[in-house]
Amino acid sequence: MNVIFLGPPGSGKGTIASKITKELKIPHISTGDLFRAAIKAENDLGLKIKSIIEAGDLVPDEVTIEVVKRRLDESDTNDGYILDGFPRTPAQAEALGKFSTVDKVIDLSLNDEELIKRLSGRRVCKSCGNSFHVDFVPPKKDGICDDCGGELYTRKDDQIDSIKNRLEVYYSQTEPLKAYYKELGSLCPIDASPAPSEVLKSVLEVLK
Ligand code: AP5
Repeated sequence: MNVIFLGPPGSGKGTIASKITKELKIPHISTGDLFRAAIKAENDLGLKIKSIIEAGDLVPDEVTIEVVKRRLDESDTNDGYILDGFPRTPAQAEALGKFSTVDKVIDLSLNDEELIKRLSGRRVCKSCGNSFHVDFVPPKKDGICDDCGGELYTRKDDQIDSIKNRLEVYYSQTEPLKAYYKELGSLCPIDASPAPSEVLKSVLEVLK
């Protein structure tokens, strides 16, 4: 099954997709994670996109489409995949439709006030990338990842100016994709406001 996670920044795409990947045994592919890995590696792609990501703007379509196309060519996607954070523009959605099929589009929705609270309190593990939240999903030990013991940090794009820009970018460029996938019959709207375990239950229900 090929699944897309759509939804504004902070709606819980990464949190829920990282659990679904274990349930369905298909890879979780996050374009944000792929880009952050390139930045960490300081390779050509990373150097090109670092300032774009930190400001909360979108990486150009042609770069993003090529990265995803290559990733989906890998053999671990033969039984399906979960795409988290792609597509985000009409051009990306059209490109994806040419090189893959899409079965379900999980559309997580949440109001801006909650999104800002979630993003500004997010802490991410430097080693394994797991996300926590200072109030909503606190680690057992302050500043330390429950799963691997790695150090937790705040993403540069989780500063308030960047968060506001990411929300604007989402509403202008990504939200219109809801109508696109609704028309194709694959859109599954999910209320992202309950606790993660409840949201997970709702998503698993629609993926059955
Ligand atoms: P990306 O990493 O994809 O960022 P995003 O879409 O802004 O999404 P986030 O990772 O911020 O949020 P999320 O929805 O995954 O929420 P999370 O689960 O962490 O992309 C980063 C950047 O890369 C983009 O800005 C862009 O520059 C570039 N990029 C990526 N894809 C691109 C593309 N296709 N085209 C062009 N550029 C692209 O949860 C957030 C917080 O809330 C956490 O602290 C979590 O613990 C907490 N939380 C989660 N669920 C709940 C819940 N149910 N209740 C309470 N708290 C919760």
